[in-house]
Amino acid sequence: AAQFFGPKLLAGISLLLTAGPTREAIDPVRYISNHSSGKMGFSLASAAAEMGAEVTLVAGPVNLATPANVSRIDVESAQEMLDAVLPEVEKNQIFIACAAVADYRIADVAESKIKKSAEQMQLALVRNPDILASVASHPKRPFTVGFAAETNNVEQYAKGKLERKKLDMIAANDVSNSNIGFNSDNNALSVFWHDGVTHLPAVDKQTLAKQLLTLIAEKVRTK
Ligand code: CTP
Ligand code: CA
Repeated sequence: AAQFFGPKLLAGISLLLTAGPTREAIDPVRYISNHSSGKMGFSLASAAAEMGAEVTLVAGPVNLATPANVSRIDVESAQEMLDAVLPEVEKNQIFIACAAVADYRIADVAESKIKKSAEQMQLALVRNPDILASVASHPKRPFTVGFAAETNNVEQYAKGKLERKKLDMIAANDVSNSNIGFNSDNNALSVFWHDGVTHLPAVDKQTLAKQLLTLIAEKVRTK
């Protein structure tokens, strides 16, 4: 409760976030994407600004209003998201990767609308760059926080990503429960760092965002 009496918990801190899905073009009228609503990332951006941080939000295509006092950069594809994030990395003390980045993009995007012909067709896909891992390996890396949406083995997969991507913290949610997570207003998170874990039970995303940011602020201070 100290932040209600003293200075704001994130005053003087600049924070960069990614949020929402990415959209990978197939041809000029079609794309592949996912069900991310962007609500968790936008809640984090909004809460961080309220807590005094200077916030830059790199957002994929979502249907959400820009939170007060947040500077927003809109992107579509994973590559565009990476290109928007990289120049901002050095200016920020905290990076939170909340976006549901498409793991693959179309190998050869068609220049004109693809016409239907055969009964079956294949689309060749290639791996997208990992934005979070790129930030984590930056020489002037911020305190770097990832998200992990898992349907099974949540703890094992989340801890694997914490180590593999060399993160400071990872917030995992179980997306097999459709009442929380993707597209829902509520969410629950298990947060792991190198020598600790905490479980944040299901609440609305705005409350959860404040809880996660309070935890991050404590770690950034004691780093
Ligand atoms: N992420 C990213 N860039 C990507 C893929 C993921 O920045 N190209 C970030 C997400 O924003 C999230 C974290 O990495 O913070 C974990 O994303 P997730 O999809 O759970 O992990 P992946 O490493 O893509 O592994 P997989 O999908 O196979 O579980
Ligand atoms: Ca992925």
